[in-house]
Amino acid sequence: MNYILIVEDEEDIRDIYEMILRRAFPLDVVLTGSGKDALRAIEERGRPEIIISDLYMPDGDGTFLWQKLLEQKMDVPFVICSTDSLTSLQRKFEGIHGHIEKPKIVESVIELVDKVVSRYETPPSYVPVRISFLLRLGTVHFDLFMKISDSRFVKVINADEAFVLEDAQRFYQKDLSHLYILKEEADLYLSSIENNLSQVQSENDKFPADLPAISLETLESVERLARTLGWREGVVDASKHAVNLAIKVVGNEPNLLNLLKYKLSNAHSKYSQHVGLVTLINCGFCHQLGWVSESSQMKIGLAALMHDITVDENIYENIEYWNSAASNSSDKTPEVVKYRNHPTEAVNLLLKVKNIPPDVDQIILQHHELKDGTGFPRGLVSNRISPFATVFIIVEDLINFIGDSQDYHEKIHLFIKMRSERYDSGNFKKVFDVLKKTAKEY
Ligand SMILES: [Fe+2]
Ligand SMILES: [Fe+2]
Repeated sequence: MNYILIVEDEEDIRDIYEMILRRAFPLDVVLTGSGKDALRAIEERGRPEIIISDLYMPDGDGTFLWQKLLEQKMDVPFVICSTDSLTSLQRKFEGIHGHIEKPKIVESVIELVDKVVSRYETPPSYVPVRISFLLRLGTVHFDLFMKISDSRFVKVINADEAFVLEDAQRFYQKDLSHLYILKEEADLYLSSIENNLSQVQSENDKFPADLPAISLETLESVERLARTLGWREGVVDASKHAVNLAIKVVGNEPNLLNLLKYKLSNAHSKYSQHVGLVTLINCGFCHQLGWVSESSQMKIGLAALMHDITVDENIYENIEYWNSAASNSSDKTPEVVKYRNHPTEAVNLLLKVKNIPPDVDQIILQHHELKDGTGFPRGLVSNRISPFATVFIIVEDLINFIGDSQDYHEKIHLFIKMRSERYDSGNFKKVFDVLKKTAKEY
């Protein structure tokens, strides 16, 4: 079958290309991760209809690939894609089919491929999405379908349901590599993931902000907790990376960055310790669930850094008291009302940052909600709470539960025992089961 060849070392971007292209063109899409991989694919499958290649990649970059194609005298439309400016790309790659400036890829790629390949006369009504991609993102705001035959699809995952490793494995066992979303929702979905991508891509380029966010003491607790939870090696480092990305997003709004710096300036304060722990453990836990895309990691990190930005230091002396007072909506004491509103206040501050990635506001708004509607500020019930917020709620509950205890092992096992009932349905159960499993295996 004729095919489009994608050459891109970043998995997330590869998967976005695949989705865009399969939605518009009746061709196979072959994904490769380097120039050398691409040459191997061409050797196996013959000349593609068009090649879309990243510029900077290990193991054979875009320039390498283009040179090889010239040497082989292969006449194939070639598109180069990079964060470099369009003018510099045009200078480096003269006479090729097209240039794309990252991260805005969706429109340009369709336009360029359109010139060499004809589109579907009637576009497909379902668009395939790679299962590994769904897992890395962790949550999809649309229903997911499984293909039964060319014309039959059945719904297998509901919109806003957490998508965890166990779900992915269930489909892999059936030899499936893709699930499907409805064509009319695919466009919305694509623009939301492109928005995530722009944040991560542009933040990757900037210098790290000098934020003394996490004290050594807190880092030690995180390492110990990670060991007790049986986390894979590298998870804590990935979490630190996510926190850096998140800090850079906050850096888009200097006033907010200064406020965060001020709040975290005393690395040994209860506030700093709480925010440091919550942030790293949330990122690590999402990693453990398989939600490893930079954009998901950055979202949860950003939400964690900001979630208590308006909460005073002294609240952490007795957080259980304040949480239960705030849940009682008839308590109108000014301090309690202020605490009850801290999720909303944090979101209002965050809205000043431009291009906030989707979901972050949801996580912050919902971080004190509880499955049975007894949380605050809105008293939501479980099916209204987003998958990311579910993780956040469980992680923060665990951290508060451990408190100042030094025996993490005992506390975690006690937590699992005592909270099994609270977290026994929907997204809460999916997430809690993973915690149970990793803690037990360890
Ligand atoms: Fe908190
Ligand atoms: Fe909070």
